[in-house]
Amino acid sequence: MTKEELVQKAQDARKLSYSPYSHFAVGAALLCKDGEIYLGANIENSAYPLCMCAERNALYNAAMHGKKKEDFVALALCAGSDEPCSPCGACRQVLSELFPIDAPIYMSNLKGEIEETSIRELLPYAFSADDLK
Ligand code: THU
Repeated sequence: MTKEELVQKAQDARKLSYSPYSHFAVGAALLCKDGEIYLGANIENSAYPLCMCAERNALYNAAMHGKKKEDFVALALCAGSDEPCSPCGACRQVLSELFPIDAPIYMSNLKGEIEETSIRELLPYAFSADDLK
């Protein structure tokens, strides 16, 4: 699967966003080694802190299908932003726990712009299980 195809899946997921408060719809698509793709979109709540991001919903969707860190190949996310949408800090922390550190993360927008990064780039000095020892 090409990065453009995975980004298209993130755009499809974005259509399922429930974002009546921010009006900022985000979609994510998580590709696994077995070819399965797990989607997520942001789901908001009138109690604002309960809003959940697209990336975490995709990761938790995959987790509920038995998928683990070593099963993931790439993640794409897409929003209607000027610049390719970048994962928030909370999602970076969750990705650092559940997603391979060097796997590609394709950040995109509806203009078709795609930027590739990784958790190694997005969250240097991440807090991890090692810090709890
Ligand atoms: N949002 C995401 O879903 N992913 C991100 O990486 C950035 C922010 C959502 C959360 C909230 O529903 C809306 O975008 C505005 O912050």
